[in-house]
Amino acid sequence: MSKRRVLITSALPYINGIKHLGNLVGSMLTADVFARFQRARGVETLFICATDEHGSTTELAALEAGQDVVTFCAEQHAAQADVCRRFGLSWNHFGRSSNRPNHELTQHFARQLWKNGHLEIRSTKQVYSNADGRFLPDRYVIGTCPHCGYPSARGDQCENCTRVLDPADLIAPRSAISGSSDLEIRDSTHLFLKQSQFVPQLREWIASHKNDWPLLVTSIANKWLDEGLHDRGITRDVEWGVPVPDDIGDGQLKGKVFYVWFDAPIEYIGATWEWAEANNRGNEWKSWWFGEEARDVAYFQFMGKDNIPFHTVGFPVTVMGSDEPWKLVDQLKGFNYINYYGGKFSTSQKRGVFMDTALEILPADYWRYYLIANAPEGSDSNFTWEHFAGVVNKDLADVLGNFVNRITRFCASRFDGRVPGEGAYGEDEHALIAELGKRVPACAELFERAEFRKAAAELRAIWVAGNEYLTHAAPWTTIKTDRDRAAASVRLGLNLVHIFSHLAWPVIPAMARQIHETIQPLGDRVTIPWPSGSLDEELDQLEAGQPIRSPQVLFAKITDEQIMEWTARFGGTET
Ligand code: 2FM
Ligand code: ZN
Repeated sequence: MSKRRVLITSALPYINGIKHLGNLVGSMLTADVFARFQRARGVETLFICATDEHGSTTELAALEAGQDVVTFCAEQHAAQADVCRRFGLSWNHFGRSSNRPNHELTQHFARQLWKNGHLEIRSTKQVYSNADGRFLPDRYVIGTCPHCGYPSARGDQCENCTRVLDPADLIAPRSAISGSSDLEIRDSTHLFLKQSQFVPQLREWIASHKNDWPLLVTSIANKWLDEGLHDRGITRDVEWGVPVPDDIGDGQLKGKVFYVWFDAPIEYIGATWEWAEANNRGNEWKSWWFGEEARDVAYFQFMGKDNIPFHTVGFPVTVMGSDEPWKLVDQLKGFNYINYYGGKFSTSQKRGVFMDTALEILPADYWRYYLIANAPEGSDSNFTWEHFAGVVNKDLADVLGNFVNRITRFCASRFDGRVPGEGAYGEDEHALIAELGKRVPACAELFERAEFRKAAAELRAIWVAGNEYLTHAAPWTTIKTDRDRAAASVRLGLNLVHIFSHLAWPVIPAMARQIHETIQPLGDRVTIPWPSGSLDEELDQLEAGQPIRSPQVLFAKITDEQIMEWTARFGGTET
């Protein structure tokens, strides 16, 4: 895509709780690698994320935590921002859907939809709690599951047997807030978005992307349409959300807020506005999203497969129905799930590895590399500690780490820790340069297409080629008879270390920095650019005589004891 600017949004993590590795790879991490790659190529890039804060789930989580919802969200936002920063996520802004810009924009979109005749007021039947003096959202009604007898099933779904429920199905229903069973059914008015009117427009738009979106995305989108698009209730009787403005529905919707899935995607735009405010950029946020000014923007979204319907149908209807030229997504990258020992990672059941605990046991780059190399693109992938350790030990420790160590140590001991200038590159060197001359552009093309698994495989193939060259050239042997030959090998080896750090930066930024620093200090440069010259130049650019440093051990191998310890700590039985 020959656009000048790239806008990237990652699906917004729900506010409650630190995310697990499956959430991470399916949205924030892959978006980050893509953003870093674009910046490394010199493309003007804006990477936006935020916490998704509204709705009854958040109110309930705050209630359970014994906090008011405002304090709860502020604390959780800070905790997520912190762990994401430690994971190296490099967004330009990490906003909050509860902030003012999203309120203003959500109300704006609703007014447009109302004005354009796409909204309708309808009466619905809902549970009302006399003791609490309020309507209860489905999940605020608790009772015994009629299917499995679980005593604490919620009115939307039984968490024990996973059956979808209606509050009326529950035996002995009671309020999740007060515990009172003094409940009744009352009428409540709500706004409905007439989505069905948009089916032809949606079909045409989705069809226009059938060659550039993953099959996973177009097939989920079409399935959703094929099953018949129902009009969607976009308001709720909860307190924590964007209020419905008085001018919609002349007072009939007093006290209602918009449904969280209505306002959350609008926060992509809202968070861009927050970014502009935080950086004194005035109206610049709009140039990424609106009208003629945004025509040079290529917009990429990253998300797990459960989010695809909301991004191929729900949010686009909001945008289309506004009848204003807001940008629709250009490239929608959807992911399958990562499973934990064949079962689901689960936030509610605390099953699997979460971002904070992951960082307690290993640095971020171990996780980043593993997750990108095993991104669930074509199908679900499966996490086990044995597999994780195998990948880290082989690719990072044996291949990349070992290469850097071997060559820098040898240079330190036999060439005084300086880049040797003697000796010319021979046949072996030129063969490797020619191979990388093909592999490096192939790798770039894969990152450009956001095919992470294949990009990581190409990266690994490049490291392997470097190792094979070094093993074959064996400067530790040739130095005994031909010092110039050994010098040429060491010079190429050090140039390889240098270029490896540039290529690896989008995936393992901290480690790439450390590797680069063995060859050349980076100072306060943040981005390590993707090589742009010919490989002949790139692999002969270090100055003869320039000092290098030997790194400490870059990647420590994961031991069998650690695997046992972590399996015991996190659980690891097949389900
Ligand atoms: O599934 C989720 O985690 C949602 N919080 C994603 C929202 S994405 C966007 F629409 F805000
Ligand atoms: Zn049940």
